[in-house]
Amino acid sequence: MFFKRKTDEIDKTRLPVHIGIIMDGNGRWAKKRGLPRSAGHKAGAESLKKIITEANNLGIKYATVYAFSTENWKRPKAEVDYLMSLLMDYLVNAEKTLAGENVVIRAIGSRKELSEEMRRQIVKTEEFTKNNTGIVMNIALNYGGRDEIVHAVREICREAAAEGKSADDITAGDIESRLYTAGQPDVDLLIRTSGEQRLSNFMLWQVSYAEMWFTDKLWPDFKPADLHRAIADFQHRGRRFGGV
Ligand code: FPP
Repeated sequence: MFFKRKTDEIDKTRLPVHIGIIMDGNGRWAKKRGLPRSAGHKAGAESLKKIITEANNLGIKYATVYAFSTENWKRPKAEVDYLMSLLMDYLVNAEKTLAGENVVIRAIGSRKELSEEMRRQIVKTEEFTKNNTGIVMNIALNYGGRDEIVHAVREICREAAAEGKSADDITAGDIESRLYTAGQPDVDLLIRTSGEQRLSNFMLWQVSYAEMWFTDKLWPDFKPADLHRAIADFQHRGRRFGGV
């Protein structure tokens, strides 16, 4: 930032349409309190509910949250199991919590490595919330940006071979329409908490022109006021999309 603003007032007519959130720092939040990492993830899930509710109230149309990456399987089994059970609870309780607030819930990522039970619940929650008219919340679950692009390219190759299409006919639109987020706009604002400033394989295609916003706050400490600050900063950036 080159200047300090006096307020974090948001112009509701110029909201980012799609925000991406890398919810980092749950483990450190728990460690600071002498708690197990699972307590950090639980607090992180609570924080997520509040932030999605706020984003929805503000009128944000899409939010993609990084819940479990294709690399997170490398964590200790007990932590992976705990994260999966939190995700399961989140999906099961969607009816009482977020869906009640008109949220459309979708899962993006590769499903084949997930348990049968989880796969079934995802379909159920997606089906249950699909006619809601509020924010679309994409839960990135077993998600990797490279994996998503590989998945899209494979589909294109299969179809091209079947249709006798030439490689030169393939366009960026062909890739876009085969991403897990097909039909949704690119990410405008990418938020990452906990002081880390990297993408970690998150939405590599969709963040091409995203404004990036970082905070040292750990995810469970991230409050609606922080979301306001991120959006207000976003509204003071000059976006040129490669132009002048
Ligand atoms: C990164 O913190 C966070 C994750 C790997 C998981 C994010 C999950 C949640 C916020 C809760 C569950 C989500 C849903 C949708 C119910 P970290 O564990 O890497 O923290 P550290 O870097 O401090 O160790």
